[in-house]
Amino acid sequence: MRLDVVTIFPEYLSPLDLSLIGKAREQGLLDVLVHDLRDFTHDRHRTVDDTPYGGGAGMVMRPEPWGEALDHVIASGGAGGLPHLLVPGPGGVRFTQAMAHRLALEPWLAFACGRYEGIDERVIKDAAGQMPVTVVSVGDYVLGGGEVAVLVMVEAIARLVPGVIGNAESLVEESHEDGLLEYPVYTKPPLWRGHGIPEVLLSGHHGQIARWRRDERLRRTALRRPDMIALLAPGDLDDHDREVLAQFHADPPAVAD
Ligand code: 6GU
Repeated sequence: MRLDVVTIFPEYLSPLDLSLIGKAREQGLLDVLVHDLRDFTHDRHRTVDDTPYGGGAGMVMRPEPWGEALDHVIASGGAGGLPHLLVPGPGGVRFTQAMAHRLALEPWLAFACGRYEGIDERVIKDAAGQMPVTVVSVGDYVLGGGEVAVLVMVEAIARLVPGVIGNAESLVEESHEDGLLEYPVYTKPPLWRGHGIPEVLLSGHHGQIARWRRDERLRRTALRRPDMIALLAPGDLDDHDREVLAQFHADPPAVAD
């Protein structure tokens, strides 16, 4: 998978050299190119912003450097084809695990990191005339710019690219994969600061362990994310699941008729 990031702060993306993503790049599974938007300016001060038409607070990113930067990204594709352009911003559609799965199947993603009050809207319009464009938000809060959101999205997407995570089994039963949060985990030592571990995990009884883990997932989700319980389909739960949820005063979805 190829990833291009356009930003006025290339150093902000340096974590992409590390850990899982750094290793995937070394293995040739990911090709990450970070571009400095200011390299596509032509004035002495390398200006990327200006005041908003219509007035108001803050500055808006001018369209010309963005147009040239995105033209450069497209032209550098070599083999042809076009990237799916993702524009991070708090006004976008919500980035989810489901979206991460869909994007992990794409050969080429490009990210346009806005700063200030955002990018001149004509940049998005012009790009959308050439390639798929999605404005995406990583949550209901406001960041100073798109760079950290890109780190979030690239980390979520890259680990779903085949080969990036050695053990694909670790991708199941995770939070947000099947509508429930993950179960709690424990390792050695068996007693730490007076805290033991749930006895069932030492029992060697795989059926009971699986049941306990599912109960914990239901319990945690009901307590921490009742909004996710409300989204479960009737077929997602069996009678035992419903009993567990009833103990936590969560409203399980109605049984289908
Ligand atoms: Cl993707 N970008 C910015 N700048 N702020 C955000 C965001 C993205 N998602 C939530 N807040």
